[in-house]
Amino acid sequence: MLYFDHGATSYPKPKNVIAGMIRALEDFCANPGRAGHQSALQASREIYDAREVVAGFFNIKDPKQLIFTLNCTEALNLGIKGVLKSGDHVITTSMEHNSVLRPIKALEKEGVENTIIQCNKDGSLPLEKVDQSIQENTRLIVLTHSSNLTGTLMPIAEVGKIARERGILFLVDAAQTAGLYPIDVEKMYIDLLAAPGHKSLLGPQGSGFLYIKEGLYLKTLKEGGTGSKSQDFVQPDILPDRYESGTPNTPGIIGLKEGIQYIQQQGRENLLRHEESLVKYFLQEVSKLDYIEVYGPKDCKKQSPVVALNFRGMDSSEIAYILDSVFNIAVRPGLHCAPLAHKTIGTLEQGAVRFSFGYSTTMEEVAKGIEAIKTIGSEL
Ligand code: ALA
Repeated sequence: MLYFDHGATSYPKPKNVIAGMIRALEDFCANPGRAGHQSALQASREIYDAREVVAGFFNIKDPKQLIFTLNCTEALNLGIKGVLKSGDHVITTSMEHNSVLRPIKALEKEGVENTIIQCNKDGSLPLEKVDQSIQENTRLIVLTHSSNLTGTLMPIAEVGKIARERGILFLVDAAQTAGLYPIDVEKMYIDLLAAPGHKSLLGPQGSGFLYIKEGLYLKTLKEGGTGSKSQDFVQPDILPDRYESGTPNTPGIIGLKEGIQYIQQQGRENLLRHEESLVKYFLQEVSKLDYIEVYGPKDCKKQSPVVALNFRGMDSSEIAYILDSVFNIAVRPGLHCAPLAHKTIGTLEQGAVRFSFGYSTTMEEVAKGIEAIKTIGSEL
């Protein structure tokens, strides 16, 4: 199989990720923080160690401010619903995923207002609209680091600076970038950072996190056992316990740590350079085909390793079906859980065929993908 669906999840996982998860399951998978026996203590230590590795990677000074979650969606829900209350206003953009749009829309019923900034046709953010959208009651700006449809990279540090100067909280959705692009929560003025463990961080599905700036106190999404202050019926305030009720995904968290260690061994910049070169080559070749329409910035420096395209007049699902069934090529068609992003680029009806590359994709594989596109084009 040619796997061009890294935007959905990275595959295959590095060997050390798999080995780390097996080690957890075989050697110390007792319940961390729930007992004092040796295996439980080791599980706690290993999770603490993983928390330090993940925090260090994003320049998060205090690892306790990093909350492990099931995925990026859960992290975004905690960030959005934890901050906003009736009477507040939130700003976001038309390039967001439903994991941002749906929680924000759900909050309308509770009296939380929103402004969704209309992005440009290539997915880019008109920065001046951020300032223009700020109201007296604006409490939060939520922005994706990169669109999962067009790959368009957003000006995170610039928006972060505006938010900081105006006393507004800034939540970044790093679903498509964490692990590949430099993210420094201090330098980029990020108050809340949500990321999945299973995309460019190369960990397993069922892992993710939310970073919460020190001193910021969120409403909880869930309450339950934390292994701490068990005599109290109220959720403890201490971190990370306050937001981490229930038995954690110990093997998943270890896999996430191993994913980051793989990235560090390879060099994040090297991986980024490699993936940029794949996008550059792919864009250069598909742009020559007059029956193909390419969306987004069409520049490997302005987009994450995601390219959305269409065969003119053809349904995106049909093309993805041919790629899969005839060429054994995995891509994602349809709406990518980002309907407003599709509306922005003009593909709400047709959807788009998304090719997304990753650390394991080779130039030869991309060349085969291009050949498959040409073969389909010649037969249509
Ligand atoms: N959000 C993931 C994607 O874009 C699943 O495919």
